[in-house]
Amino acid sequence: MRSSLLSLWLLGGAFAARPFLNEPDTGFDEYFGSLKAADLAPLDSLVGLPDFEEAARRMLPIANYTYYRNGAAGEWSYRNNLEVFNRYAIRPRMMIDVTNLAASFPRSTTILGHNFSAPFFIAPCARGDYGNIDAEKGLVEAAAAEDVLYIPSLSAFLSIEQITAYKTDGQVTFQQAYLNSNETATKELFARVKASGAKAIVFSVDSAANGNRQRAARYGASSTDVSYTLITWEFYERLKTLTDIPIVLKARSTRDLSIESRAAAKLTGRSPLEVAIEINQKDPNIFKEIEVYADGGVRYGADVVKMLALGVRAVGIGRPFMFANVWGTEGVTRAIKLLKTEIGLDAANMGVANLKNIDQSIFVWTPNSVPA
Ligand SMILES: Cc1cc2nc3c(=O)[nH]c(=O)nc-3n(C[C@H](O)[C@H](O)[C@H](O)COP(=O)(O)O)c2cc1C
Repeated sequence: MRSSLLSLWLLGGAFAARPFLNEPDTGFDEYFGSLKAADLAPLDSLVGLPDFEEAARRMLPIANYTYYRNGAAGEWSYRNNLEVFNRYAIRPRMMIDVTNLAASFPRSTTILGHNFSAPFFIAPCARGDYGNIDAEKGLVEAAAAEDVLYIPSLSAFLSIEQITAYKTDGQVTFQQAYLNSNETATKELFARVKASGAKAIVFSVDSAANGNRQRAARYGASSTDVSYTLITWEFYERLKTLTDIPIVLKARSTRDLSIESRAAAKLTGRSPLEVAIEINQKDPNIFKEIEVYADGGVRYGADVVKMLALGVRAVGIGRPFMFANVWGTEGVTRAIKLLKTEIGLDAANMGVANLKNIDQSIFVWTPNSVPA
């Protein structure tokens, strides 16, 4: 009797929900406890992407911090995007020769035919000036220094032309765009993008209406405009006739786009990892037929490796680089270097010998995580 009671008690403990921690407890408070609020933490003491947010939060004006930290409505998706990676465990393999893993890194990732040094990129985020007086300069320069892709937002503080002026010779960037049915304005924008040398237009199609941003609204950092934009497949077909630059579609649920562009499919609104799992289970050829990129909640090397194992070509990262940009070029460079190191370490410890040679067999599918 006593032992069965004990088992029940233990089970209850195991199933108790853990509170959401926006900032993981890795000792930051103990280490930086004495740092004054307005002080920038020394860069060399920041040891992972979450540190940049925690350090930036302490010294940025609350409205600026909130603009970057914000999620939609009750922020369920925001939290799920961060937590979901831990729900899908991997099975580390031992006795594998991983000594050549690092050598396979340089120029190992190809995105639309362009080579980069890592399977992640800087996702388009508006308003670099909220984090740094030089706005997006640090993002452009660090991307060049570390040979990763940067996709400036059309809502960047700096203009397309100002960002272009910061690029180094030969640096490949894509340009994010919001587009509407004003064809004259679209043609003008496409001409500016072409002149900038950007190699692709990343068309955000998840902005048919403005977002419901309650955290940001609290600080007046959210638009109250209720205009609606007509974004349809016909519109996309028309856009393709207006430019010879490739157009990449960007949305909250890539599965809809990747599948719908070939065949009818049900829509899902889950995290990028869950959507990638679903594509991988139901229509894995999509990853061979088109390049699929994913972003949202990626913070650790292991997160990136999991996405690659499912067939995602490269992973975008938004907030962490915006927070790293508080330290300018050096901050973003350090964040990129840290993530590259983590990808190598995490992949090696998973027993992955070559980043190009992994598949979903690294996952342990449990009753809670097995795809429907
Ligand atoms: C402050 C902020 C501004 C953003 N601005 C844009 C934008 O202008 N265009 C766009 O397509 N996506 C924008 N995004 C979305 C990012 O491109 C990206 O999808 C998202 O940040 C990825 O999630 P992560 O921040 O958890 O890495 C923005 C995100 C944030 C946090």
